[in-house]
Amino acid sequence: MISEDVIQRVKQENDIVEIISEDVKLKKSGTNYFGLCPFHNEKTPSFSVSSTKQIYKCFGCGEAGNVISYVMKKSNVTFPEAVKILAERANINVDINKDNNSKNNTKDKIYQINLEAARYFFNNLTKNKKAVNYFINRGITIKTIKKFGLGYGKDSWDGLLKYLKSKKYKENDMLGAGVIIKGKNNSFYDRFRNRVIFPVFNYRGKVIGFGGRVLDSSKPKYLNSPETEIFKKGINLYGLNYAIKGNNNDTFIIVEGYMDCIALHQFGITNVVASLGTALTKNQAKLLKRYGNRVVISYDSDAAGQMATMRGLEILKDAGLEVKILTVPDGKDPDEFVRKHGKEAYMDLVNNALPLIDYKIEMQKKGLNLKKSDEIIKYVEKVINIIKDLDPIEIDMYIKRLSQELNVDNQTLYDELNKIIRKSGKNHNKMNTLQGFGQKLYVEPTYVKAERLILKILFSNKEYFGYIQDNIKKEDLLLENHKIIYQYIIESFLGKDDIEKRKINIESKCDEIYILEEWVKVLDVNYIYNLDSIKDIIDDSIKNIKRYKFNKKKEELLNKIKKCESEGKYEESIYMSQELVKIQKILGDM
Ligand code: UTP
Ligand code: MN
Repeated sequence: MISEDVIQRVKQENDIVEIISEDVKLKKSGTNYFGLCPFHNEKTPSFSVSSTKQIYKCFGCGEAGNVISYVMKKSNVTFPEAVKILAERANINVDINKDNNSKNNTKDKIYQINLEAARYFFNNLTKNKKAVNYFINRGITIKTIKKFGLGYGKDSWDGLLKYLKSKKYKENDMLGAGVIIKGKNNSFYDRFRNRVIFPVFNYRGKVIGFGGRVLDSSKPKYLNSPETEIFKKGINLYGLNYAIKGNNNDTFIIVEGYMDCIALHQFGITNVVASLGTALTKNQAKLLKRYGNRVVISYDSDAAGQMATMRGLEILKDAGLEVKILTVPDGKDPDEFVRKHGKEAYMDLVNNALPLIDYKIEMQKKGLNLKKSDEIIKYVEKVINIIKDLDPIEIDMYIKRLSQELNVDNQTLYDELNKIIRKSGKNHNKMNTLQGFGQKLYVEPTYVKAERLILKILFSNKEYFGYIQDNIKKEDLLLENHKIIYQYIIESFLGKDDIEKRKINIESKCDEIYILEEWVKVLDVNYIYNLDSIKDIIDDSIKNIKRYKFNKKKEELLNKIKKCESEGKYEESIYMSQELVKIQKILGDM
């Protein structure tokens, strides 16, 4: 079984709004988010996600649950599998079984080796004039060298190999960490030779890999650690461990390279992370979203226009981040720019960064001559395709701007917009129309609500723990999952007092989707009470449940009596009629 601690952390570190946003377009309305329910077909959104409660509910079909049940449903996996998927996303270790333990041991080994290697590289640097001078010449201070743990890989085939051996590490583990390479005849040699070294930290500040740069202009310019158990492409951002600490306005600046990141930090711009040259991934976007809401992309100006970057921008946007694009003039990279013009000049660029949409519109002008009418039409089409899914107010703003820019009538542009929307065949702005919302509410039987209420009180009001058990037993409940939850609640009190701990304890047992979803609904039950009225609420609920039960029995009996009479089994029918009288009396007394 997965530990309760892991379940709690998995839930803490996976925001349900983010997870569901991957599949459902959610729109904020009040404190909740709304979208089209992924569990049934609908045209108007009745699916709501609560960020504060970390649960989802559909008013249309009655589905509800938390982040774990969502993943179970969506990916059709078991409870432990869902927890594992979520844990991996959040870089949490799940110790499910031994196999996993040995895996964690190799991970630990790699962390240790990386740390030792970083020490080795750093020590080399302090002893090597040429290497230190390389950094100094690029404007890096000793303080920055220390902060980023910069180093130097000696011009030797086995400097690190010998060092790590002296520390009793095995070659196999060094290979696993990617710091050595296997040559012919089972020989080994250092991966990073005659290169300055940039240790790569994860967001917690642990060394997960290295980048090594040549000191001259030979190729390849940078050599990076290979993928290892702990160094995976596209899940980390360089500098994030420092940016988290230095970020007080929930904006991050994303640059391409090690040197850009380090230089900006040195100049006191500390909310900077580097993607290290690769295209941004969903995982990286989500990692950032945990710590902030806005990003400014500060790539080389030529690179920013490239398709890969555009895709990266969409990914950031889809993760719910507000995206702006900064263009450094003269094709310089941020490192060169900040060194030449200083912090204030760079901050001016940051403050004037273009919103994503504006940037995309700007990009469309490339290669078009806006003095020619046929090229104007092309441009208008492109712009409209970019803005057509925005808020009506925003569309309006962009149309006005476009009309001024091109000296084209507003209405003409609107006509064009409508034409394109019609052609794309999409229900325009369907996320905006909450019309009809709530028309077809899923109505739950009273006894289901009553059972839930009983369970909620049983769970949260210790004073009535005994009273409820005396008056309604597990077997008296109608829903199978309620019976199970009843049992779990009682067990949760064994040795546990803290309500949060009991909650997690129960959740760790709800390994079937129909139980977990129902448990979320139970927790979501609200009732208003004072200590005097709570007994009435309990009594009422129990009555509701029993009334339903007896009504059902009554119905069954009536059917049976009819059947017996039609078959001529009068004796039986008389017996059942007597039963019916009893039940009717009970019902009458209720
Ligand atoms: P850049 O060449 O823009 O990096 O590549 P930089 O940091 O500005 O380099 P210098 O030191 O100032 O010349 C961006 C990033 O792409 C990765 C590195 O992570 C680099 O920081 N890269 C680049 C490689 O991995 N290998 C390469 O050969 C080149
Ligand atoms: Mn550079």
